[in-house]
Amino acid sequence: MHGVTRQNRAPIRPKVPDIRGEKELQLNEQTLSQRLERVAAHVPAGARLADIGSDHGYLPVALMRRGAIAAAVAGEVALTPFHSAERTVRENGLDQRIIVRLANGLAAIEPGDGVTAITICGMGGETIRDILDSGKARLSGQERLILQPNGGEQPLRQWLMENGYCILCEELLRENRFDYEIIVAERAGPVMYTAEELYFGPLQMQARSPAFLIKWQRILREKQKTLTQFARARQAVPEEKVQDVVRQARWITELLA
Ligand SMILES: C[S@@+](CC[C@H](N)C(=O)[O-])C[C@H]1O[C@@H](n2cnc3c(N)ncnc32)[C@H](O)[C@@H]1O
Repeated sequence: MHGVTRQNRAPIRPKVPDIRGEKELQLNEQTLSQRLERVAAHVPAGARLADIGSDHGYLPVALMRRGAIAAAVAGEVALTPFHSAERTVRENGLDQRIIVRLANGLAAIEPGDGVTAITICGMGGETIRDILDSGKARLSGQERLILQPNGGEQPLRQWLMENGYCILCEELLRENRFDYEIIVAERAGPVMYTAEELYFGPLQMQARSPAFLIKWQRILREKQKTLTQFARARQAVPEEKVQDVVRQARWITELLA
């Protein structure tokens, strides 16, 4: 398949291996984590999905098993997860409905796929941004992007704004002591967000959910601790770095006021 030599399969991994605190949970293509379940909820019914960085392929397989999507591509850049996704698809008898491709980022998407939704989940926001940016030529502009960054939300939102994507929905959820954000966006022409909106999330700022406020109370404590450490540091911390943290602490304080 796609020029990749088939290798002996390792035994099915019984546990999700590498995403933060999900290690101890028995998750699979039938039982998604709460995080992936929330991502799944934003995939439009009947979508032709590209799940980039699919790892085990649980998300597209779960959606297909439920009859929620029409077709899917599972893209993976690394061999072991690529084989894992192939195995999940095969064991669920979905070879005809889900194509697994070994590819870097959006290179997994081919013009004939007619993709209408793209999920990129469980990676840093900068990585997701770089995947989108280097794969721009593969985007028709008609796809809904459902992104679940682990940190780095600000640069990701910045990329979305600079590329004419309007943020339609934002979710924050806490699972296994980690905060996860989900950002849903579609291309809609020029959009403008303030620096604070890019930092906090424009819709989250408006909604001010309890989870959102608790998250930023926690981050404010961290920023204050960082500033104390800067003040006590033996070597002077560059002023620019200090001012950056001061500005963030001020924004958060104003947000929580
Ligand atoms: C932590 S896993 C997340 C898996 C799944 N998306 C989820 O949210 O549970 C990240 C996966 O993205 C893959 N990945 C990282 N960079 C990638 C890229 N540029 N193109 C395709 N896959 C990538 C990694 O190999 C890894 O399997």
